Amino acid sequence: MKPRPESTAPAARVLVVGGGSREHAIAHTLYVEGATVFLAPGNAGTETFATNLPVSANDLAAVVQAAKTHEIELVIVGPEGPLVAGLADDLRAHGIATFGPSAAAARLEGSKIFMKEFLARHRIPTAGFAAFDDAQTALNYLRAQDRPLVVKADGLAAGKGVVVPKTTDEACAAVVSFMRDRVHGEAGARIVLEEFLPGEEASFHVLCDGHRYVALPAAQDHKRVRDFDEGPNTGGMGAYAPAPVVTEAVKAKVLERIVEPTLRAMESEGNPFRGVLFVGLMIDAEEPSVLEFNVRFGDPETCVLMPIFQGHWRSLLFGAATGQLPAELPPQRCVHALGVILAADGYPENVVTGDLIDGLDAHEDHVVVHHAGTRRLPQGIATSGGRVLCVAAEGGTLEEARTRAYKRIESLHFRGQHHRTDIGARAQIKDPTNDQLPGHVTGQLQQ
Ligand code: AMP
Ligand code: GLY
Repeated sequence: MKPRPESTAPAARVLVVGGGSREHAIAHTLYVEGATVFLAPGNAGTETFATNLPVSANDLAAVVQAAKTHEIELVIVGPEGPLVAGLADDLRAHGIATFGPSAAAARLEGSKIFMKEFLARHRIPTAGFAAFDDAQTALNYLRAQDRPLVVKADGLAAGKGVVVPKTTDEACAAVVSFMRDRVHGEAGARIVLEEFLPGEEASFHVLCDGHRYVALPAAQDHKRVRDFDEGPNTGGMGAYAPAPVVTEAVKAKVLERIVEPTLRAMESEGNPFRGVLFVGLMIDAEEPSVLEFNVRFGDPETCVLMPIFQGHWRSLLFGAATGQLPAELPPQRCVHALGVILAADGYPENVVTGDLIDGLDAHEDHVVVHHAGTRRLPQGIATSGGRVLCVAAEGGTLEEARTRAYKRIESLHFRGQHHRTDIGARAQIKDPTNDQLPGHVTGQLQQ
């Protein structure tokens, strides 16, 4: 464990809402920076350095009450569900500084139709689309196209609301399951059909205080469950940063054509964005388009973004929460980070939990084992979710981070454990040295 410096930053007492590897990474970073950390509810990993409260992230009233009881100075909301439900509004109404957007701003993630119409209205690059609230009309539209369209549930569907079909029949089946069978409940009552975009994906995170922003180095997730992007989609099997697909030229386009117009329009439409805007990008021949917006940090991207800003996070998150992001940041030391998810037996389809985990007590320099789905049982720590651990390492090069992460994995064991062995491979093919300084960009919106 790293030493805890004497705290001079604001927000000595923080509450992190959520209990996955994203929240573990945020909580651990703030703990190392000297904060006293509470989580609602946290996991078996966070209880070793912070206080886990028996409060569900989705119980808004209980989270507000916990923040008051524990005299919290900054709440960081991890998952999208409570943000879309209005947790940040409730906390701010009680005078509690909160990192996370209002419910109105969280519609960028909470409603795909809102998001697509917003992008179209402001001429921000994204796939062409049409929105439907009637299954038959959507099916007729699909049949009239000469190629299959991507099908997206309008509302939140725990990462399962998107189908990228190979055939029009498959697309029609998705429409029926979303709109008629309601496999995702009301989230699928309305849908978006959109053009398939070719290219390479990247996760671009921007901290915003409503007016100023800090763009973080780009990360890349690995969504498919098996090596070489085979098998079904998951919440994410591993990530690394910085991602060389976002070259300096691409980054400039993302800021000018996507980030600044989005933040400016949110401000001018009366919904200034405070928190982190995570732009899911598709990049084709150095031309970026928006695949999706998320209104919270990515998971597992956070496990690799946290090490890149060592020592600054508490001020940055507090600054974003309170409209006081710095206009400039000091230069960062060069860091690369890579995280690998260890998944439970059967993930993502038929997850089996309750298996005991061996090897958590070992220590490796420059590596943090973030818990994603774990639970303490009388006999030890056991798996309790599909994604169980995120083993994240930092290094002076991507290769160094990768070697450290995979070495630590060798000493972690549980029945049915599986993980990808090719995290970061795409970056190494592109640029085997990949050792440039990961750049952040600060900016301010011009009206
Ligand atoms: P989303 O939740 O909208 O990011 O979609 C989940 C995943 O589906 C993305 O990470 C992409 O891999 C894929 N996807 C979504 N929309 C498209 C699209 N228009 N073209 C190609 N792939 C897409
Ligand atoms: N890793 C993708 C996400 O958090 O949505």
